Amino acid sequence: MNVHVGAFEKTKNIDPEVRVFATDVIDGLTHQPKKLSPKYFYDEAGSHLFEQITRLPEYYPTRVELDILRGKASEFAALIPANAALVEFGAGATTKVRLLLESCKIGAYVPVDISGDFLNAQADALKADFPGLAVYPVTADFTAPFALPDEIETMTKVGFFPGSTLGNFDPHEACSFMKLARNTLGHGALMLIGVDLEKDERVLHAAYNDKAGVTSQFNLNVLTRINRELGGNFDLSGFTHRAIYNRDRHRIEMHLVSRKAQTARLCGKSFSFRTGESIHTESSYKYSIERFQALARGSGWTPLKSWTDADKMFSVHALAAD
Ligand code: AVJ
Repeated sequence: MNVHVGAFEKTKNIDPEVRVFATDVIDGLTHQPKKLSPKYFYDEAGSHLFEQITRLPEYYPTRVELDILRGKASEFAALIPANAALVEFGAGATTKVRLLLESCKIGAYVPVDISGDFLNAQADALKADFPGLAVYPVTADFTAPFALPDEIETMTKVGFFPGSTLGNFDPHEACSFMKLARNTLGHGALMLIGVDLEKDERVLHAAYNDKAGVTSQFNLNVLTRINRELGGNFDLSGFTHRAIYNRDRHRIEMHLVSRKAQTARLCGKSFSFRTGESIHTESSYKYSIERFQALARGSGWTPLKSWTDADKMFSVHALAAD
């Protein structure tokens, strides 16, 4: 998987995934202001750090969404017709989908994720625990068009997009994703989606600046990954994690801020940083119920019902395809 300085341009037979990663990183660091896509956080170490984040006392989204899914299980069961095919966009931990599989009569489970190995391992574990369930994993990037398996053609489709992953998309990307999901799932489909809510800025700030420093490690890990997979020479001690709430744009922004004037090289190119210059590594958009419903209406869906916890921290929405 390693591509060392200079080798990138000379070698033709590099793993296509690494080539895309290299191109994205070079484009992002050439952009003003510098940026990297949050999808690159999730190598093995990054996925593990994210799992740790979900258990931090300050990071409420995972816990609160699980509470809503557990508490409203009978309402989901009433909404979802028997023998429907559940199509999950992105497949990480199976904790959330298991709650739906336990409470609803799901006929088939279709996890869609870019990482095939992980997907197949999760699929096998689910098949063992739910013996009657048909599982059809699809290895695809769900932000681009993909085909559903033929086996579920006649079944009602229910999209499942938990975890406020939608929050990583800029408004126009969120709209495109919702339209694409509508077209992929087809007429008569439903969608269950988890969306993080706007709230007191101090609560948001704490959730992305945890005391134990796990979010900082998670953010910096993208530089470790660049060093390893692209032969980069980023000095990790030269960058600091910063997460701020951008109120005008309703989003948490994560940055890696350069502590000094420095240069980093990768793939035969060098990138200079001024003191205090940042790399924007993630946006995590927060919605009000109304703003999310307006987004849904504008992208081919009719909001059926929205649920929140008592403290209005997080929301889960059921939508019907127009
Ligand atoms: C997985 C995108 C929902 O935005 O809260 C957690 C990622 N980043 N802490 C989020 C994340 C920093 C997370 N999402």
